[in-house]
Amino acid sequence: MPLVNTKEMFKKAYEGGYAIGAFNVNNMEIVQGITEACEELKAPVILQVSAGARKYANHTYLVKLVEAAVKECPDIPIALHLDHGASYDICKSCIDGGFTSVMFDGSSLPYEENIEVASRVAEYAHKYGVTVEAELGQLAGVEDEVSVEADKAHFTDPDQVQDFVTRTGVDSLAIAIGTSHGAYKFKPGQKPQLRFDILQEVANRLPGFPIVLHGASSVIQEHVKMVNQYGGQMPDAIGIPEEMLRKAATMAVCKINIDSDIRLAMTATIRKYFAENPSHFDPRQYLGPARTAVKDMVAHKINVVLGCAGKA
Ligand code: G3H
Ligand code: 13P
Ligand code: ZN
Repeated sequence: MPLVNTKEMFKKAYEGGYAIGAFNVNNMEIVQGITEACEELKAPVILQVSAGARKYANHTYLVKLVEAAVKECPDIPIALHLDHGASYDICKSCIDGGFTSVMFDGSSLPYEENIEVASRVAEYAHKYGVTVEAELGQLAGVEDEVSVEADKAHFTDPDQVQDFVTRTGVDSLAIAIGTSHGAYKFKPGQKPQLRFDILQEVANRLPGFPIVLHGASSVIQEHVKMVNQYGGQMPDAIGIPEEMLRKAATMAVCKINIDSDIRLAMTATIRKYFAENPSHFDPRQYLGPARTAVKDMVAHKINVVLGCAGKA
């Protein structure tokens, strides 16, 4: 089937109490690892591309890689999504360039400005059948060139969401309830917590409306251990506990964003490979196992966190 937007995926996910994985893609091995797992488990998937990914791999290469995945995975719906679009122009260029979904991230803008740009993006996108995600509230952590200090981050205000969604016409909303980007989401000794009360309040104000969780990697400890064991230095890397993500998926959360867990799976595998095979130098020798690690990690997410196996 051709690339799809997120409309139908989210409707089914909301009603079925599960979530769709939105995985960041930056190269061929990542695209293959993710989509092979999804095809085998018959799981719908969102492949998302950040500004950093476009800078690294080039828009055309990424679109073509995703198109190849669509061809290789005939049984599952795949959406191609712009992650953290910083401006109307970036969103427009991705809509014009074949994306089926875009995020306009105006979370750092004043409220009215966020509404103004998000509604222009939605108006343009909808002419082409492209769905739009926007964000209210601000996550801590590093995304692209934007780094948000923890003390500048703030939770989404449920009092704003209805007004925001009605005035912008966006199709889904990313909210801040305590997740954050990157591999260091909580301090050592700090008890991981999400504000499920805010999520529930948002859901009450927006019945049936799909909510998105950014910064939702669980920072798999087996991979952190491997990185540290084989020469890496990632002390105290901590993510969102899987059971919290599962709970969110049964609520209004229809899209769970995962990037750091892909990075970790690949890095852990490649570090181990180099340590055990110091004489090897063919990239296929270490990128192959890294791709398998991504595939296994994604299969685990589908089964344990997202609950979307068999929902294609
Ligand atoms: O939200 C951020 C994603 O992890 C993308 O990261 O901008 O370094 O590609 P990136
Ligand atoms: P993680 O850093 O938790 O993987 O979040 C990724 C993300 O939100 C991409 O938009
Ligand atoms: Zn994000």
